Amino acid sequence: MLIGEKKIARPLRWGMIGGGRTANVGPKHRRGALYDNTAFKLVCGAFDVDPARNVEFGTNLGVDKDRLYPDYKTMIAEEAKREDGVEVVDIATPNFLHYEMVKAALEAGLHVICEKP
Ligand SMILES: NC(=O)c1ccc[n+]([C@@H]2O[C@H](COP(=O)([O-])OP(=O)(O)OC[C@H]3O[C@@H](n4cnc5c(N)ncnc54)[C@H](O)[C@@H]3O)[C@@H](O)[C@H]2O)c1
Repeated sequence: MLIGEKKIARPLRWGMIGGGRTANVGPKHRRGALYDNTAFKLVCGAFDVDPARNVEFGTNLGVDKDRLYPDYKTMIAEEAKREDGVEVVDIATPNFLHYEMVKAALEAGLHVICEKP
C-alpha cells in the first residue's frame, strides 16, 4: 500500500483478533490499514476477550453483527464457510496468545499481520 495510491484491484477482506476498545495497538493498526481506504476492508472481528464487549465495539466500528465472533476459532471456522470470507487477519492480542492464533490462521490459509514477537 502506498498512501493515496491504489495499487490493488480491490481491498483485501480483513479481520481483527484482539485490538478491542481499550487496547493500545489495535487502534493504531486500524488507522494505518485504513489510511488511504484502498487496501483493506474490515469485515469481521473477535476484538475482545469479552464477547459482549466485542459485539458492542465491533458494531460501533461498522462491522456486521453476524461477523462479530465470540472467539477466534469460531471466527476462522465461520469465515471459511463464506464465499466472501476474510482473507487476512490482524492479530493484536497479548503476546502469549500469538502462537496458537497465528498457527490457526495460517492453517486456514489466511494471510496474517502480527507485530512482534
Ligand atoms: N503497546 C504497544 O505500544 C505495542 C506496540 C507495538 C506492538 N504491540 C504488540 O501488540 C500486541 C497487543 O498489545 P497491546 O498493548 O495492544 O495489548 P492490550 O492488552 O492493550 O490489548 C489486547 C487486546 O486483546 C484482546 N484480547 C485478549 N485476549 C483475547 C482473546 N483470547 N481473543 C480476542 N481478543 C483478546 C483484549 O480484550 C484487548 O482488546 C502485543 O503483541 C504487543 O507486543 C504493542
